[in-house]
Amino acid sequence: MTLMADMGAKLAITRRHPLIGTEVRGIDLTKPLDRDGLDRLNSIWMEHPMLVFPNQKITDEQQIVFARNFGELEVHPSVAHRSSKNPEVYRVSNVDEQGNILPSESKEWQYLELTWLWHTDSSFREIPSMGSILHGIEVPKDGGDTLFANMYAAYEALSDGTKAEIEGLTVRHSHDAVIARSAKLSARQDKGTYTELPPVEQPLVRRHPVTGRRSLFLSPHTMDGIVGMPNDKGFALLDDLTKHATHERFVYRHSWHQDDVIMWDNRCTMHAVMPYDSANQRRIMHRTTIVGDERPSL
Ligand code: SIN
Repeated sequence: MTLMADMGAKLAITRRHPLIGTEVRGIDLTKPLDRDGLDRLNSIWMEHPMLVFPNQKITDEQQIVFARNFGELEVHPSVAHRSSKNPEVYRVSNVDEQGNILPSESKEWQYLELTWLWHTDSSFREIPSMGSILHGIEVPKDGGDTLFANMYAAYEALSDGTKAEIEGLTVRHSHDAVIARSAKLSARQDKGTYTELPPVEQPLVRRHPVTGRRSLFLSPHTMDGIVGMPNDKGFALLDDLTKHATHERFVYRHSWHQDDVIMWDNRCTMHAVMPYDSANQRRIMHRTTIVGDERPSL
């Protein structure tokens, strides 16, 4: 169902899921955007937190130019996963830059496998990322879909009692917690080279700085307990909230086609990669990650 066609900006948008996942056509991401086009796209993005642009054959450099329309770009803490040509490109890829599939016993693959856990990008930073843009360069035949949860809707569907219970709670997050989630990676002497980032504390409920809407701020791969709560109780509450937020009614499943470019707002969504046969099927995704605008707050 096409919701709208904007003749001026030539954008046509179609919902792929009632709550999250909206296709945008009528735009060529290899070309610079003018002010009107950018304003139009930004207002669509604020209403539809995860956008799909099918069939966009962009280079990394064009992706960087497109992403910079929305802010400065992060450099990922994992040195091995940065593109050697463009450090702002995070290679979410089971294939190295020489074209070889990463062996399952390599630390590079063991780190990347952690994207299969639900997360919000850069929740380990004091100011987490505002949004991310991902280009599907090679996509597997089976599996490797990406799931996106609408965290506004997940928050809004909580009972009044749960909303009152979690209002004002603070969650510890850290990049070290990501590595600790992998039994194989955390058991190694050499875990890889990462930019050092101190642990941070983030609100469990946040308000979006543009839309003003509240959402649940969860990122299971970086969460390390609730401040002031015993670990067993804190993790049980975070697990219950994660289970709630990842119920299929809040989730869009993106099945990849080559040259899909997708873009999501990290301030109100969470995502996870579905498992695939990473020893035999190639999956090359390049991500640019937009620096956040402010510390999350209620
Ligand atoms: C990511 O976790 O940011 C990457 C998602 C994907 O590879 O589909």
